[in-house]
Amino acid sequence: MNECGAVLRARGLCKEHGQGQALVRAVDEVDLDVPAGQTLAVTGPSGCGKSTLLHLLGGLERPTRGEAWLAGRRIDSVSERALARLRRRSVGFVFQAFHLVEELSAAENVELPALLAGRSPRAARRRAAALLEQMGLAGRARHLPWQLSGGQRQRVAIARALVNEPLVLLADEPTGNLDTTATREVLRLFEDLRSAGQTLVIVTHDERVAATADRIVSMRDGTFVDDTRLAGGTGFGGGTGFAGGTGFVGGTGRLDGLIELGD
Ligand SMILES: Nc1ncnc2c1ncn2[C@@H]1O[C@H](COP(=O)(O)OP(=O)(O)OP(=O)(O)O)[C@@H](O)[C@H]1O
Ligand SMILES: [Mg+2]
Repeated sequence: MNECGAVLRARGLCKEHGQGQALVRAVDEVDLDVPAGQTLAVTGPSGCGKSTLLHLLGGLERPTRGEAWLAGRRIDSVSERALARLRRRSVGFVFQAFHLVEELSAAENVELPALLAGRSPRAARRRAAALLEQMGLAGRARHLPWQLSGGQRQRVAIARALVNEPLVLLADEPTGNLDTTATREVLRLFEDLRSAGQTLVIVTHDERVAATADRIVSMRDGTFVDDTRLAGGTGFGGGTGFAGGTGFVGGTGRLDGLIELGD
């Protein structure tokens, strides 16, 4: 982490696609600091650059211009190898479409990034079992993704994102495919994580989700048009006593992060 304690930091961050008439500035000169422990919601209309911003912050995409830091380390200019390593250790990603490996059980999905990060099979199994239990899924560990409900699948995906104890959890429309009950389950989990000091960035269209954050930034056309601190947030609807503790360090990437072998 750098001096100001920001887990994520961006200065003049830009991402452009295409050229000439077809040029799209998906992210346009964004400055951002996300301090440790903050829950940040990013909102805005479709196409305004939310996912692109999340990918830039988590090192899944490279900026066209500008600077980005993750845990105090510059990520816009490091080698692919160093970036993959930093991402694996520091970031957990959660996606709207879950992106679980269909052939693997819930437990195996959660274990996989731990194994890829070099944990022993035993340690990976233990950690996955503990996380699934905290997610209320102990009885579903051997189920394949298609045997789970949407909310259960997303909770497995969240467990997977947490297995390497990431400094920051980046979630892109995590409740976008879920009904109200499942959304509530996921929000409760996020509340538990927040209570445990987990830094969280959540891209969401759902005002109920955004209203639970410490801070909401609104985007239009690649830039921030509003940055609001909520008075302590309203909470994610009551914690369930998540015992995963603090001290989240280490992490993984998304699917291509999952197949990043070796350091
Ligand atoms: N690979 C790409 N090539 C060209 N344009 C792209 C590419 N990826 C994103 N864009 C464009 O960049 C802009 C921002 O896209 P992005 O996916 O970040 O938006 P978003 O806010 O996440 O939208 P949504 O809410 O629909 O998910 C859009 O106009 C999109 O069309
Ligand atoms: Mg998006």
